Amino acid sequence: MSNLLEALEQVKKQLALTPEELQRISKRFRQAMADGLSGKPSSLKMLPSYLGQPSGTETGRFLALDFGGTNVRVLLTELAGDGSISVLQRASKPLKNPAGAYDYTSKEADGLQLFDFIASIIKEVVPPEGTYPLGHTFSYPINQTGLNSGTLIYWTKEIETRNVAGQEITQLLQEALIRNGLPQVQPQVILNDTVGTLLTAAYKDQTVDIGSICGTGHNTAYLEETAPQTNKPMIINMESGNFDQLPFTAYDDLLDSHSDIPGNGRLEKMVSGRYIGEVLRLILWDLLGKGLLTNSPDKEKLNTPYCLGGEDTAVFAGDTTAEHSTITHWLESKLGIHGAQPEDVQVIHSCAQLVAVRSARLVAATYLGIFEHIDPELKKPHTIAIDGSVYEKMPGFPEAMDTAFAQVLGLKAKQVSTVLSKDGSGLGAAIATAIAVKN
Ligand code: GLC
Repeated sequence: MSNLLEALEQVKKQLALTPEELQRISKRFRQAMADGLSGKPSSLKMLPSYLGQPSGTETGRFLALDFGGTNVRVLLTELAGDGSISVLQRASKPLKNPAGAYDYTSKEADGLQLFDFIASIIKEVVPPEGTYPLGHTFSYPINQTGLNSGTLIYWTKEIETRNVAGQEITQLLQEALIRNGLPQVQPQVILNDTVGTLLTAAYKDQTVDIGSICGTGHNTAYLEETAPQTNKPMIINMESGNFDQLPFTAYDDLLDSHSDIPGNGRLEKMVSGRYIGEVLRLILWDLLGKGLLTNSPDKEKLNTPYCLGGEDTAVFAGDTTAEHSTITHWLESKLGIHGAQPEDVQVIHSCAQLVAVRSARLVAATYLGIFEHIDPELKKPHTIAIDGSVYEKMPGFPEAMDTAFAQVLGLKAKQVSTVLSKDGSGLGAAIATAIAVKN
């Protein structure tokens, strides 16, 4: 075996997770949930949403604002009361202009500018007449004190906009709406994207009791039967991307040490679209010293942090052809790396697959932890609604989760399933608004 293939074997050993390891992670996750719920120190924040499951009969016309981290989307929606939602109008803009004209995610921008930008997109959608209740999907950890109030604990996903952390988010939005001449828009509820995803899918299917995002970021919410705040059923936003009792590799530690907030978001940094490309890059950079791309004069280009993203990882993992010509082409056209040999592209493909499969298995282990908490014997069927580019576009991702479930649960795995809830995070804001208005 060549040195390079031997090095690949070492990488495999580090990234592979046996069914026993999955089980250990799920048990630790369950314990962290219990600790977080009872107010003990825990990497899981277990934040209340003040929302329960929808009945599916909610009706009305509502604005939904979806503030994720990549784009701001505004939808004017109509809930029909029969599980269906139609979108009447929509507007969307990236938070960071691709041509460099603006970037509301950087240190240079502040909260006022960011919320004025959001208001300008709402303006594109909202008619001048009438009043419009609005639901706000805000996909960051907030200390929520009621349906419509919460302060940002800290930014995640490497967002750095000034003067937002510690602030009351609905107030920032309300003030921006007034400044921008939009008094007819009335924020009613603020929710996490995981909560929105759960609501949208549960609006049609009552077996949905978990909502999750596997996209730029990663996080999960679930329906807690007796929430500590109310002793009633409530959807809890776990901020599970922050879970930290995991088998870290040296690559994970290196990535973490160079990130905005070292120590935070350790699971997210192993599994989400914002980071998996960087995990892959660190592995490939390590393998350069062990024979990867030796005939490529431009291989040093791999020394640029974050030059590989989630999309690149998906392309590399998905090119299963014998020649891996897509990988060769991608290396040349996107990264400017020429001269890759057949063994190089084979190794790059394998590493991308290993990173992708590890991501799916780690996330699956956290879902297993939730089952242990809500229904250890799996007496009922449970559907996990998932939104996000990694779940939707990473080749083999849903299948790798199913394999993990089958390995750990055996025959009982038939009680659990995952389903794509496309745009569920934003649409959920409309359902949450319907619930809030009714209350
Ligand atoms: C990050 C945020 C979390 C969000 C997730 C998915 O983990 O902290 O609130 O749900 O990304 O967007």
